[in-house]
Amino acid sequence: MLLESAIAQLRAQVAAWRNQGDTVVLVPTMGNLHAGHYALIERARKLGTRVVASIFVNPSQFGPSEDFAAYPRTLDHDAAGLAAHGCDLLFHPGIDEVYPYGVERAVTVAVPELGDILCGAFRPGHFNGVATVVLRLLNMVQPDVAVFGQKDYQQLLVIERVVRDMQVAVRIESAPTVREDSGLAMSSRNQYLSDAERERAAELHRCLQWMTAQLRSGQVVVAIEAEATARLGAAGFKVDYVAVRRASDLMPVENFEPGARVVLVAARIGKARLIDNLLI
Ligand code: PAF
Repeated sequence: MLLESAIAQLRAQVAAWRNQGDTVVLVPTMGNLHAGHYALIERARKLGTRVVASIFVNPSQFGPSEDFAAYPRTLDHDAAGLAAHGCDLLFHPGIDEVYPYGVERAVTVAVPELGDILCGAFRPGHFNGVATVVLRLLNMVQPDVAVFGQKDYQQLLVIERVVRDMQVAVRIESAPTVREDSGLAMSSRNQYLSDAERERAAELHRCLQWMTAQLRSGQVVVAIEAEATARLGAAGFKVDYVAVRRASDLMPVENFEPGARVVLVAARIGKARLIDNLLI
């Protein structure tokens, strides 16, 4: 596996691959990789002939009181894992490469409405930071395809919106959430959990399954959301939101409205803020 931190060398390598007929697939990450990320690499390998992973802990998507400084940086371990999973190139740019004018003076991308609801309401500016860095990474790598996890469902829709609205010549693909045996969605932030918290955190997935069953049996959306919030509160979570939304744009749904839905949750337990969702 090749390692690059400079855009010029990265682009030269990607251009060389493309000249020989390769299809390039990008998997953007912030590192501290786990089985969920490696599933994205596996998916990427099926979608093209060359896989590029990026690792960049993006300051502009963290709020002032969030865990940017504490976010685990595990480059050597991540590089070994990526190589073992068949990644062709790891791009790990420094801050000056990604934000040449500095983070404060950076040209930014805003995603109105979609970026302001659900997680966006609890993490103001977060999705603008994500949209800004993903657009930069897509411009740097210029892949044919980019792959994102469905665990970050709102992020996935934000990125699809950016690509469509800014006419970026890339195809966005997604991969299903990878779960521990307990049902807990794999996340870099799970490592903030104690053993007892980790056990309780599995309740998030059980709650989403319960909500799905309630929806299927015709229960009213507001009643489901209220009871799910109470259940999670009783299990020791501080709930940011529990919501049933339209899968296409995350807008609220009427009870008997046809079409795909998604149930989403964001809740804090101990030092971790966890998110999860199920598509229906
Ligand atoms: O999902 C992530 O790891 C990040 O939000 C992303 C997409 C790499 C942007 O920094």
